[in-house]
Amino acid sequence: MGRIIAVANQKGGVGKTTTAINLAASFAAAEVKCLLVDCDPQSNSTSGLGFLRDPERLSTYDLLIGSANAEQAILPTELEGLFVLPAHKNLIGANIELVAAEEREFRLRNALQPIRDQFDFVVLDCPPALDLLTLNALVATDSVLIPMQAEYFALEGISELMDTIERLRQSFNPELQVEGVVLTMYDDRTNLAHQVTQELKKYFGEKLLKTVVPRNVRLAEAPSYGKPALLYDVHSKGAESYIRLAKELMDRVLRQNKRALAEKLAAATSGS
Ligand SMILES: Nc1ncnc2c1ncn2[C@@H]1O[C@H](COP(=O)(O)OP(=O)(O)O)[C@@H](O)[C@H]1O
Ligand SMILES: [Mg+2]
Repeated sequence: MGRIIAVANQKGGVGKTTTAINLAASFAAAEVKCLLVDCDPQSNSTSGLGFLRDPERLSTYDLLIGSANAEQAILPTELEGLFVLPAHKNLIGANIELVAAEEREFRLRNALQPIRDQFDFVVLDCPPALDLLTLNALVATDSVLIPMQAEYFALEGISELMDTIERLRQSFNPELQVEGVVLTMYDDRTNLAHQVTQELKKYFGEKLLKTVVPRNVRLAEAPSYGKPALLYDVHSKGAESYIRLAKELMDRVLRQNKRALAEKLAAATSGS
């Protein structure tokens, strides 16, 4: 079954979109079919994959308000195995239009349900807020990937995100997991980066992922060419780091699936 990963952190500029695009592209490059869903009205994932602004194109907004289904809105990209469900700035209106709507937190989950099994991974790029759009993503997802910068205020606001995840576990999404925390725009040369990394290790334990994404100008340039970094400069440190991140996450999921299967088997045999 397709695994859904939401890339979330209510802080802006921490590398959510860069992570969403390049992680999704790295899955696809590993021949793991992937759908990137742009859940941010700023639509940076959409434009970063080369889709120019087009108010006529079906988008996440249509999914949320129910004027189209996912099948109709999904588009292929330049990279084989990578698909996108684009966003448009009208998505900002969904936040308001859905306030009084029925099952308003379940709109994205319900919309993705019929298509999720067509993909191995579905990556959700969230807006920089804990708004109804992010809530929809956190209700739709299996796990949350949190990009963070190794800076003094990195943990600021994170307790709010962790509280939201905990609340959702107790209400709308009991199975919700934290996939991991990935350090972005990392500058290995500074003491500060090392100090903050130690702090984050204490706070997140094994949830702090081994793969670290360095600050790399190729990652910042690639979206202006409408390409993920691995199509723009595959040998760049940036592209390489996201390929490693995809591998690390695939290995984790594989291990988890194996563990779940072993537990099921054990339960089945002890019951017989
Ligand atoms: N590892 C990196 N190295 C260099 N620039 C980066 C890196 N990650 C992100 N950026 C740049 O930083 C800015 C913010 O990143 P973005 O992914 O858009 O963050 P968010 O989606 O969290 O707001 C963008 O201009 C992006 O190109
Ligand atoms: Mg973004």
